[in-house]
Amino acid sequence: MKRTYIEDLKKHIDKSVIIFGWVNVRRDHGKLIFLDVRDKTGIVQTVLLPKHKSIHEVGNELRPEWVIEIHGRVHKRPDEMVNEDTPLGDIEIEVTEIIVLSRAYELPFDKDSEMNLDTYLDHLPLTLRTSKSRAIFKVQMVIMAAFREFLAKEGFIEFQSPKIIGQDAEGGASVFDVAYFKTTAHLAQSPQFYKQIMVGVYEKVFTTGNVFRAEKHSTTRHLNEYTSLDIEMGFIEDHNDVMELTSKLMRHIAGSVKKNCKDELTMFDIADVKVPNKIPDIKLRKAQKIIGEMYEEECSNEPDLSPQHERWISDYALEKYNSDFIFITHYPSEKRPMYIYDDPKDPGYTRSFDLLFRGIEINTGGQRIHDYDALVQKMKDKGLDPKQFEFYLQAFKYGMPPHGGFGMGLERLTAKFLGLMNIKEATLFPRELNRIDTLLSE
Ligand code: AMO
Repeated sequence: MKRTYIEDLKKHIDKSVIIFGWVNVRRDHGKLIFLDVRDKTGIVQTVLLPKHKSIHEVGNELRPEWVIEIHGRVHKRPDEMVNEDTPLGDIEIEVTEIIVLSRAYELPFDKDSEMNLDTYLDHLPLTLRTSKSRAIFKVQMVIMAAFREFLAKEGFIEFQSPKIIGQDAEGGASVFDVAYFKTTAHLAQSPQFYKQIMVGVYEKVFTTGNVFRAEKHSTTRHLNEYTSLDIEMGFIEDHNDVMELTSKLMRHIAGSVKKNCKDELTMFDIADVKVPNKIPDIKLRKAQKIIGEMYEEECSNEPDLSPQHERWISDYALEKYNSDFIFITHYPSEKRPMYIYDDPKDPGYTRSFDLLFRGIEINTGGQRIHDYDALVQKMKDKGLDPKQFEFYLQAFKYGMPPHGGFGMGLERLTAKFLGLMNIKEATLFPRELNRIDTLLSE
């Protein structure tokens, strides 16, 4: 007999099956032992009846996280025993044989109980097995798959970007050094240079991968290593083309999560994501004016929005446009990286944007400078030495179309989809100032 996955058990009512999995919970009711067994597809209740003596003896030993093979018969539960809260709450397996595949030590705590974030993170090999974590990272996987699916359909080509780099793209303050080569190399803060180079090859490209930021502070929104979802597209008119594509992409991702993660979304009891056909956009200066008028905080000379400002503007977007997203455009030239295109119609400001989602920036992008001389000049204006960027500059020397793109943080996006308070909850193995697994714990 072949293995049956737990999600398929309902097709086998009154039949014999074999399932594999972990003991999720064990409950004893008088002489009955109930085991909730978990596999990659779900959880089902099994029952060990006292009449099967040898099974009962094995059952007496079992504890949570033991890995077992169960042979048994699938039964429909009587109406009064149906558990409405779980997808397989109307069936049960009567066990006829148990084989122990692996034992587990006694757990340090009930893994599904409430615990503080540090305890959770210190025990990730165990706590990632909880229903909540499994749901979070399934949603993350669906987001990632939807990103790829949408872009492939739009004719984008995926490429892999290097993680050890010479010059960093985003400005030097928060870059990790790699002291191994003849000169100091760095860990990539983003695939920025490479995705632009690849526009010269394939016009429309995307890449996903880990990037590294030497953030000096531990916050609920920053990691030292995160997953960046990046696109870059050639032959655009301006940043509006990138924003238009981004609106469509976010609708596709939200639709895919809604369709493929019904149980997970129910678990988090979170409202549907509101993505209009065209996500609204306002200039940074207008956002600052709104903050001054509606929230009475003067911030018009700031080069960026603070976290509180982002929350206020998101509230505004929800109220005014019924949208969980809003683009903020035209950040000042002096505060954006050297590759960003200045808006000739708005001197001193750039064709750049940040995308806010439910109170936090999840995405940054814009149009890039594509003219070689203009890019060299911009580097000089920013006090950078073009010689250091000769490799990247070849792409522009040898003909580059007008282009633009964005970078989006997967963990922030996941956290906001599910209403998680801390980005670390949406990161499988977070790296930040105080944590590399348990390496930095006391
Ligand atoms: P930026 O530096 O704004 O832009 O980053 C893009 C997006 O990445 C996420 N992000 C982070 N997530 C977790 N921890 C961090 N420390 C962190 N830093 C950034 C955010 C942010 O919006 N090359 C440009 C993108 C482009 O123009 O294409 C860039 O990297 O969600």
